[in-house]
Amino acid sequence: MHSLDLPLKTDRLVLRPHRPEDAAELLRFHSRPDVARYLLVGPWTAEYAEQEVAKRIPKTGLDTDAKALALVLEHDGVVIGDLGLWTTEHPRLAEIGWTLDPDYGGRGLAAEAARAVLSAAFEVYGLHRVAAQMDARNTASARLARRVGMRQEAHLRRNWWCKGEWTDTLIFARLADDPPPP
Ligand SMILES: CC(C)(COP(=O)(O)OP(=O)(O)OC[C@H]1O[C@@H](n2cnc3c(N)ncnc32)[C@H](O)[C@@H]1OP(=O)(O)O)[C@@H](O)C(=O)NCCC(=O)NCCS
Repeated sequence: MHSLDLPLKTDRLVLRPHRPEDAAELLRFHSRPDVARYLLVGPWTAEYAEQEVAKRIPKTGLDTDAKALALVLEHDGVVIGDLGLWTTEHPRLAEIGWTLDPDYGGRGLAAEAARAVLSAAFEVYGLHRVAAQMDARNTASARLARRVGMRQEAHLRRNWWCKGEWTDTLIFARLADDPPPP
């Protein structure tokens, strides 16, 4: 497995590892109930933001001890989202997750970031499969998965206890030899 040169740069974004001072910027949108609605944890507090960022700082690559990549998305110098990639049952199997500040939603920025990370996942890390799992009601996240060339493989019925209810889960994945998205 090769290491990834960071930051990743796209037309509109810089994707870089976390720094302690990102806690305050991530808190801006992770504290919003509409952002947390379909995430596993509730709206962030300032204390949670600091703890979470501290956990993410060492996640600088799948080839590191952390076996994970946790990046913030910077647009015009502002942190507008985050994106994670981590290996699962096998070193060539990974999962991806994403969050975007809704004030920057609907512009294709999350898709731009996800495409860059998926390219790195297959071309630099040589992964075989990258999956994304989401609450089945999270239609924005499912559209994003499709937009970046992932296919829906499963709809699990009420398999996950989350925030006081049984929830359905969608599983999307892209394989290394799947055709690239249009
Ligand atoms: C999931 C999430 C990241 C999607 O964000 P998003 O802004 O909708 O995603 P994209 O970057 O793919 O943008 C796509 C939208 O921008 C529009 N768009 C505008 N310009 C575009 C461009 N240049 N390229 C692509 N899409 C563009 C698309 O038409 C699309 O709109 P639509 O979904 O209404 O059809 C966001 O809803 C989010 O952070 N949700 C909360 C956290 C969360 O639930 N995360 C997932 C947990 S599994």
